[in-house]
Parts: sequence; C-alpha cells; structure tokens
Amino acid sequence: MTMQTLTAQISGVGKALPERRLTNADLEKMVDTSDEWITKRVGIKERRIAAEGEYTSHLGARAAADALAMAGVPASEVDLILVATSTPDTVYPSAACLIQKALGATRAGVLDISAACTGFIYGASLATGMIRSGLMRQVLVVAAEVNTSVVNWKDRDTCILFGDGAGAALFSAHDASDGRGVLALRLGGDGEYAPLLNLPNSGCRPFPDAPGRYIVMQGNEVFKQAVRNMAECGADVLAQAGLTAADVSLLIPHQANIRIIDAVATRLGVPPERVFVNIEKYGNTSAATIPIALCEAVEQGRLKPGDVLVIDAFGAGLTWGALALRWG
Ligand code: ACO
Repeated sequence: MTMQTLTAQISGVGKALPERRLTNADLEKMVDTSDEWITKRVGIKERRIAAEGEYTSHLGARAAADALAMAGVPASEVDLILVATSTPDTVYPSAACLIQKALGATRAGVLDISAACTGFIYGASLATGMIRSGLMRQVLVVAAEVNTSVVNWKDRDTCILFGDGAGAALFSAHDASDGRGVLALRLGGDGEYAPLLNLPNSGCRPFPDAPGRYIVMQGNEVFKQAVRNMAECGADVLAQAGLTAADVSLLIPHQANIRIIDAVATRLGVPPERVFVNIEKYGNTSAATIPIALCEAVEQGRLKPGDVLVIDAFGAGLTWGALALRWG
C-alpha cells in the first residue's frame, strides 16, 4: 500500500475593494505632490478608501466568502482561518474570529498573523504546513487591511502609497503525485531593520515623540532591502523546486512600488509580460496586495492548469517570503 503524499493547492480565491477612490489629483489638493511624481516614482494612479463603518473584518469576510464559493466548499468544512493584517478591527477579538462569525465557519480555528505586508505568504506557508502534516484539509487564508486608518494625511512621504482592500485564498489538501500544488516556500525576517518601518503607538510601548498612530518609514532604505530580499527568496523557492525563471508562468510580487517590482523581476530574470501588476488601481494594500492580484489574475485567465506561480513579498519587521506553486 502506498502512502498518499499531501500538499496544499489553492482551490478558490476572492477579493473585496471599497467603492471610494482617492486619485492622485485628489492627493494634489491635500499635500505638496503631483500625479507625475507619484506615477513615475511609485506607479500608483488611485487607491480605495474604506467607507465609514467599513472595517477590515467586513472586507475580509467578503473576500473569504468569494473564495469559498469558487472552491465550492461550505464554511462548515473550514478547519482554520488565518487572517494576515496590521489593521485589525481590534487586537481582540481577532479579525479571524469576526470573519469566522460572518462566514458561519463554526468548526474553524481562528488566528491573526502579524507579518505586515508579508502576512499572506506567512499564512499560505502555515496553511501548507498544516495540510502537509495531515492535521487539516481546508485552511482559509485571508489578508485584509484598512491602511487608511493609520495613514498620516499630512505626510506626503507615506500618504500617497497606501490603500484599503482584502483578498483571500482557500488552501485545500491535494494529492501531490500530479506535481501540482505548493512546491516550495521560504520565510525570512530581520529585526535589525525594525526601525525602517514602524507603526508607533500601536501596542503597549508609548512613543511620546510620534504625532499619533501613523506609519513612519525610511522609504529609501526599505526600498533597497525589499529588492534584495525579494530577489533572494524568489530565487530560493525556484531553486528548491528545481525550476528556473524560464519555468515561471506568473510572478505576483507585493505591490508596493512599480520600481521595486521591476527591479525584483529583472534580478529574477522574469520578463514583464509574466509579472502581474495592478498597483496603479489600488496602491499598497499591505498584506492584501498578493491575494487581490491573484484573484484578478484568475479572473483574467492568466493562470492555466500546470502553470508555475511564484508569489513574493516583503514588509515591516522587516519580514519577507516567497512561495512557488503549480496551478490546477
Ligand atoms: N510627492 C512629491 N515629492 C515627494 C514625495 C511626494 N509624495 N515624497 C517624497 N518626495 C520628494 C522628497 O522630498 C525628495 O525631495 P528632495 O530630493 O528635494 O529631498 C524626493 O522626492 C526624493 O525622495 P526619496 O525619498 O529619495 O524618493 P524615492 O525615490 O526613494 O521614493 C518612496 C520614495 C516612493 C517612498 C520609495 O522610497 C519607496 O517606495 N520605498 C519603499 C517603501 C515601501 O514600499 N513601503 C511599504 C513597505 S510595506 C509594509 O510592510 C507597510
């Protein structure tokens, strides 16, 4: 008798974006900036802003419900809900708990993940581990943010970058013998770089010199570390899977800056036509950029059975990670 080797496969995806758009022209009226500067230096044209009373758990629950519907899996079969977020409705109850209630996923364990923009890849990796070990069969990974609740609208260095939104993917147990599903993953982090990107006054430590609970960032340094670590861990998952850049059908990098995306793709050797970009529409939605992009890639028919997908991200911490998967 042969033992079945399990891996995780993505069986459904979903996304949720608030209605309201904030364009570069709107920002020109708020801070000393220009559409030209933002377009050229960052690649964003507009971003979405949550409505009053629209919170992270609401966006996350919508994205999650769509992912379950696409997979055809009832909420009652979900074993675990992981929610990657830096902007939960509250620290407790967790966003995962609120999303569990909204979905009616009564059997599911619930946990929020704090890994900033890399959170979806951390969640996908934990989902893969639970499924490969045989402990669980259906793990819902949600990434949801209302970043605009922690944006200083007077700081042009940061306020142009961020937007709100959510994405989700259901990871399901899959017989690995067809070579499909998650092939390789890599997680990383380095607290030495913690000062580069901070959300002061968001925990027990007071920051008497910070103006409030707003994102503070040394953009230039974050940029360099992002390119270096994303290129390195992207190459690492390809090597682990015995693949090269030529095998990559679609690279979905974290959408923080078009110049970071271009530099990482160049270093990895993946040509632009095989790199997914939607930063112009939504800006940086932190943990949510990758599952939102993944959902749009599926909607646009850009992933066919057998295709190799690589997702690759970095974020505050600093944290970084990548995952390679064969679709279908
Ligand atoms: N509009 C116009 N001018 C601006 C703006 C703006 N919004 N912001 C900065 N400038 C000016 C600066 O003042 C500076 O002017 P100076 O030359 O007169 O001093 C000039 O533009 C260049 O500034 P830099 O900071 O060197 O610009 P850079 O090319 O590095 O771009 C940016 C800044 C977009 C922030 C870039 O560094 C970046 O994208 N870094 C990565 C940041 C990131 O991705 N953060 C999110 C991490 S994910 C997470 O976990 C939350």
